[in-house]
Amino acid sequence: MKTVFVLNGPNLNLLGTREPQVYGSQTLDDVQALCERACAANGFSLDFRQTNSEGTLVDWLHEAGHLHTSGKLAGVILNAGAYTHTSVALHDAIKGTGICLIELHISNVHAREAFRHHSFISPAAKSVMAGFGVNGYALAIAGLAGMQ
Ligand code: DQA
Repeated sequence: MKTVFVLNGPNLNLLGTREPQVYGSQTLDDVQALCERACAANGFSLDFRQTNSEGTLVDWLHEAGHLHTSGKLAGVILNAGAYTHTSVALHDAIKGTGICLIELHISNVHAREAFRHHSFISPAAKSVMAGFGVNGYALAIAGLAGMQ
């Protein structure tokens, strides 16, 4: 059984209370449960994580890269939060590992402030998903299943 890494970046631990008009009222635990169900339905195991640290995200992408090399990774779903718009290090980590990665945003970043319109992740990602709310995580897992 292949593993899906779902990696969440800064401030996503605040889901549920953080700007609910933008991100909805479900918590990160709710999102994890939703991902568990989607992975079970698609025959994947789930590794679900959150950190506020950019370097930790880089380390986790490297870890996913090792799993990819051993043929045990289905792919990575990355909501890098604000690091999406700032991080060359995350761009380089994705490129450097060769992993299949879906960039995910709960909100439609293109309908928001101009500083959210640029992503350092997108040029290194297999696909990009934005604006489906937290249900986007389940859609992304189904999308990975179609890519195997
Ligand atoms: C986000 C969008 C980012 O612009 C923002 O910094 C986040 C969350 C989203 O899921 O919509 O933290 O990635």
